[in-house]
Formats: sequence, structure tokens, C-alpha cells
Amino acid sequence: MYEGKARAYTNIALIKYWGKKDEELILPMNNSLSLTLDGFYTETSVIFAEEFSQDEFFLDGIKQNAAATQKVSRFLSLVRQQADCSLYAKVTSKNFVPTAAGLASSASGLAALAGACNEALQMNLSEKDLSRLARRGSGSACRSIFGGFVEWEKGISDATSFAQPIASDHWEDELAMIFILINDQQKDISSRDGMKRTVATSSFYPGWLDSVDEDLQKIKEAIQKKDFQGLGEIAEGNALKMHGTTLAAVPPFTYWSPQSLTAMNMVRSIRNDGLPCYFTMDAGPNVKVLCERKNAAAIVEQLQTVFDSGQLVTAYAGPGIQTFKGADK
Ligand code: ADP
Ligand code: DP6
Repeated sequence: MYEGKARAYTNIALIKYWGKKDEELILPMNNSLSLTLDGFYTETSVIFAEEFSQDEFFLDGIKQNAAATQKVSRFLSLVRQQADCSLYAKVTSKNFVPTAAGLASSASGLAALAGACNEALQMNLSEKDLSRLARRGSGSACRSIFGGFVEWEKGISDATSFAQPIASDHWEDELAMIFILINDQQKDISSRDGMKRTVATSSFYPGWLDSVDEDLQKIKEAIQKKDFQGLGEIAEGNALKMHGTTLAAVPPFTYWSPQSLTAMNMVRSIRNDGLPCYFTMDAGPNVKVLCERKNAAAIVEQLQTVFDSGQLVTAYAGPGIQTFKGADK
């Protein structure tokens, strides 16, 4: 019997990953850049044992159905191939983040699974190779191997597509991200399906690809200069562009809800009143507000005039993946 456990934190992209050039290997169309956060994470245990006759997947104490188990099983098969192992596995995972609600559960979930497998089967992967493995489960998961600011280099092949931390002189410790939880239920269109439809059909998608490299360059300069306004303006603009592409997909769709627009407008108005803050959004209606740590409490106070305090969660920069011997049964 081989056991391992890992905890991985979610990450929120400031320059979004939106579109694949290789669906099978999960190679992205563009580089992306994220901030790993301490507030939301996944803990996953895995046991490989001779006594198992199939893979099993338990999430938050509930045995998952065939479709969800098959996704995990596909990833386990990749691991078995790499580690030269023929044993089935039992995966027990707990999401300290709402699942499939646009709050990056796929990033923390698949990174934790990769880390737990690496530990259980003593694969001894380097962080780079663990990032490559996590990428095969879910693209954004490759960034959750590392803490702080992280860039995913799109690469041209399985070997060259992986994430790396960005030197930042710990500036991320001075930042915060306030999550406005608008809906924590599973969304209708997954990130995977949403980006696929967009790449295949959106006439706005070429515009996204035309400008994303410049956004990336500028945001990296802002990080080096510790320029919060630059960081926020580019992140907000990049998120809006990503969401813009969905409107021209066929059929068109959006992840926004009326409350998302209320939240975005509030962020603009808090900013115009003198408290610097910027929003970003992923494949879901929830809005994330990027601000400086010193202003987080004052911004939450403003947001509380419209949103319940239970809808507001403040997160700070988080660490990279952590692994443990043994497993939760
Ligand atoms: P999100 O915005 O939460 O990342 P996605 O639609 O991108 O939503 O991904 C959700 C999918 O990620 C789930 O349907 C499931 O396949 C996978 N996932 C989420 N949490 C876990 C976990 N703890 N272990 C394994 N897979 C997970
Ligand atoms: C909008 O990593 O969940 O959050 O690779 O298909 O599993 P798959 O997609 P996923 O997509 C994340 C998309 C995003 C932007 C981002 O995190 O960069």
C-alpha cells in the first residue's frame, strides 16, 4: 500500500489562461500569470493498494459518480504510467473552496491530487515536473504548485509548458484579494467548455490573443516596480477582455450575473472615492477585488453597504504546495 497527502492553495489569474492549442496535453494559447492565495485550498489523500479493484473518488465525504470519478481516474492513469505502477487508488479530497463555482477549485484540486500522488508513489518529481503533471489535470493547477506571483509559460510541448514563481521581493505580502461570493453553486458552463467554445467560435478571440502578450509584459513590469495601480489596471482590463470574448461565441454566453455588475460598479466607485482597488473575474459570477493589504478592511466596510458580510472573504498571498506522509482514510 502506498499513501500520500497534499494541500494546495487556489490561485487567481491576473492575466488569464483562456484557450488551449492542445486539448489532450493541455497546452495553452497564451502565457498566464496568477497570485496564489491563502484563503481557499484543497487537501487530498491518495492510497494505491492491491486490494482495490477500481479507482474511487470521495469529495467532501461523498462518493463521486462515474463521470467525476472518471476524470480523476484519467489523471491517475497518467500517474500510473509515469510511475510504472499498476495499482488502483482511493482518492479522498476536501475542498476548502466551493467546487466548480469560478473560485478555482480545479486549480487547487488537481494540484493537490498531483502532489498526493507524487508523495504516495515516491515519484520525487522536481517542482517543474510536478507543475507539468498538475497541468495535465487542469491547466490552472500547474500554477498552484508555487506560492506568490506565478507565471505559466505556455511552451510548445509537454516538456516546455510549466509554471514558475516570479521574483517579486515579497511584494505580494502587501496585497490582498477580497472575494465577493455571489453564487457558490456549480456553474452551467465549465471553464474547460467555455474556453473551448470561445476558441472555436468567437470572432473576438483573435483580439484576445493579439493583446495578451503586451498585458503580460506590462504586468510583470508593474510587479518589478511594485506599482499597484499598474498591476490593478492591467489585471482588470485583461479580465474584461477575457469575458468579452464569450459574448461573441456561438452560441454566446456570459459568466456574469446582475450582482457581478453591481460588484464591478462598486469597485469602480470605491476606487474613484480614493481607495485603490481593481476587480478580476474567472469562469463564474464571483468577483475578486485586488487591493493593498493596508486598505482591505476599509474596502470590505464599503462593500458591506451592499453585500452581506458572509459574502465577503479576504485572502492574502498563499504558499506553494505542501505534502505529507500517510493519508486520511
Ligand atoms: P472552478 O472554477 O471551481 O475551477 P471548473 O469548472 O474549472 O471550476 O473546475 C471544476 C472541476 O474541477 C470539477 O468538476 C472537478 O472535475 C475538478 N475538481 C474540483 N475540485 C476537485 C478536487 N478536490 N479533486 C479533484 N478534482 C476536483
Ligand atoms: C478563467 O484551468 O479550470 O480561471 O485546463 O480546462 O481544466 P482546464 O481549465 P481551468 O481554466 C481556468 C480558466 C480561468 C483563468 C485562469 O485561471 O487562468
